[in-house]
Amino acid sequence: MNKTTVAALALFVAGTALAQQGPKPEDLIAFRQAGYKFMAWNTGRIKANLEGSYNKEEVIKAANVIAAVAGSGMGALFAPGTEKAVGNMHTHAKPALFTDKEGVGKVAMAFNKEAGELAKVAATGDAAAVKVQFGKLVEACKACHKDYRVEEKHEH
Ligand code: HEC
Repeated sequence: MNKTTVAALALFVAGTALAQQGPKPEDLIAFRQAGYKFMAWNTGRIKANLEGSYNKEEVIKAANVIAAVAGSGMGALFAPGTEKAVGNMHTHAKPALFTDKEGVGKVAMAFNKEAGELAKVAATGDAAAVKVQFGKLVEACKACHKDYRVEEKHEH
C-alpha cells in the first residue's frame, strides 16, 4: 500500500468509529433541550390544574411524564463535544456542568427523587398534597438551573 492509501484507510476507519458512537453532538443538545422543554409543558399543565379546576387524570399524566424524563438518564446527553455550540445548535449549559460531576449528581438525584414523589402523590388525587410536592419539584428544577444553566434575559 502506498502512503495515500494508508492515510485514506485510516481516515475511513476513524470515520466509521465516529459514526458508531451514536447521535451527533448537535443532536444530543437538541434531545436534552427537547426533554427539558417537554417537562416544562408538563409542569405548566400541573400549575394550570392547581390554579384552576383540578383534573386528577391530567395531573397524573403530566407527573408521570416528568418522572419518566427525570429518570431517563439525561446525563448521557451531556457527552463530550456538547459543551459549546456545535452545528446549528447553541447550548445554555454552563461549563461547570461538564466538570462538577459530584455537584451535578446531587442536584440531578434530588430532582429525580422529587419527580418520582410527585408522580406518587398525583396518583392519590390529593390536590393540596400535589401542590406541596409540586413546589418541591420546581425548586429542584431551579437548583440545577442556578448552578448549571446560563441565565438569559428572556424566559423559555
Ligand atoms: C440537572 C440539571 C437540570 C434540571 C434538574 C432541570 N434542568 Fe432545565 N436545563 C438544564 C440545562 C443544563 C439546560 C440547558 C440545556 C442546553 O441548552 O443544552 C436546561 C434548559 C431548560 C429549558 C430550555 C430548553 C430549550 O428549549 O433550550 C427549559 C424550558 C427547562 N430547562 C426547564 C426545566 C424544568 C421545568 C425543570 C424541572 C421540571 C428542569 N428544567 C430541570 C438543567 C436542568
